[in-house]
Amino acid sequence: MIQVDALDKSYGTFHAVQQVSFRVNRGEVVGFLGPNGAGKTTTMRILSGCIGATAGRALIDGLDVLEDPRGVKRRVGYLPELPPVYPTMTVQDYVAFAATIKGVDDVATAVTRAIGMVGLETVAHRVIDHLSKGYRQRVGLAQALVHDPDVLILDEPTSGLDPAQRVPRAAPRAGGRRPHGHPVDARPQRDRSRR
Ligand SMILES: Nc1ncnc2c1ncn2[C@@H]1O[C@H](COP(=O)(O)OP(=O)(O)OP(=O)(O)O)[C@@H](O)[C@H]1O
Ligand SMILES: [Mg+2]
Repeated sequence: MIQVDALDKSYGTFHAVQQVSFRVNRGEVVGFLGPNGAGKTTTMRILSGCIGATAGRALIDGLDVLEDPRGVKRRVGYLPELPPVYPTMTVQDYVAFAATIKGVDDVATAVTRAIGMVGLETVAHRVIDHLSKGYRQRVGLAQALVHDPDVLILDEPTSGLDPAQRVPRAAPRAGGRRPHGHPVDARPQRDRSRR
């Protein structure tokens, strides 16, 4: 489902991501681990089609993220580190906006479903700026889920969520199979013996 081969990303002379390779199969839930600055967010931004890589290859469901970023965005739900919300919109209007720009056919049904999945029903008509941090994070999750993507890429998704919400209730239908998981280690190769 996700195939990453020898991915590199440089900013000028600085190598943010170097030679990252891994596979994630359909139905798997994996954690992407590594110290601050290891390149996790950069890798996730490449996988979600937001930025290009300098070298290497990344495929989502067989689509090359560099060659077909639009196709990839249709298949991927992405929650960035900071939820990409418009604070002056209501929850319902914002999730509907996200559904519309993602090309969802039945926006009303998709919005109701996404809001239900992350438990936003009671605040659906409130302005996002008036919500607590955890509820704003749930709005970010709702926009990631609203187009029913095959792949969810979540950057620090439990940030701000209370312990009850950390249980992955919205996590993935996973192709109809029970999700199972393992960590992907983003630490540089030289640090991996230090557990
Ligand atoms: N647009 C950019 N321009 C220059 N350097 C960048 C840019 N974006 C990220 N970097 C650098 O790339 C490196 C990897 O950053 P990244 O945000 O991917 O790390 P991370 O593993 O997600 O860290 P954290 O655990 O703190 O979230 C860092 O040194 C960062 O400063
Ligand atoms: Mg990060």
